[in-house]
Amino acid sequence: MRNNPLIPYVLIMAFGIGLIFFMSFEGAADKNSADGEHSGETAELNGEDIAQKNCISCHGGDLTGGGGPSIVGLDAEHIKDFALNGSDNGMMPPVLKNEAEADAVAEYISGL
Ligand code: HEC
Repeated sequence: MRNNPLIPYVLIMAFGIGLIFFMSFEGAADKNSADGEHSGETAELNGEDIAQKNCISCHGGDLTGGGGPSIVGLDAEHIKDFALNGSDNGMMPPVLKNEAEADAVAEYISGL
């Protein structure tokens, strides 16, 4: 057994198998942290993104007015109310259904 010519191959094989296990655990850990980051993003809504998708078509690219009036720097509660309910006269339809989105967009626009 002392000078068995197969010993180096067995060692290399053992090392390779160990490496495979190591890399798959490493990969699984990476995937978990990537998932974590992603759910973090969705939990914290981006007011700018929401405004770009839902408001600029009427309020202009910088929200200072288009078909609708300028809404930059208005009170956050007022913006949230319009986003969820639209205007009383029906000129602006309700745009958002989600309270968290309305909060995020109101905070963003009121801070402009
Ligand atoms: C379909 C077009 C349209 C879209 C989309 C739209 N708005 Fe409006 N918005 C209007 C119009 C028109 C008015 C003016 C209504 C009026 O005078 O009664 C208005 C008025 C407002 C006002 C009141 C302005 C003031 O001076 O009191 C706020 C606040 C507002 N919009 C916020 C938003 C937000 C936030 C979004 C995106 C979530 C949005 N709007 C999307 C058309 C739109």
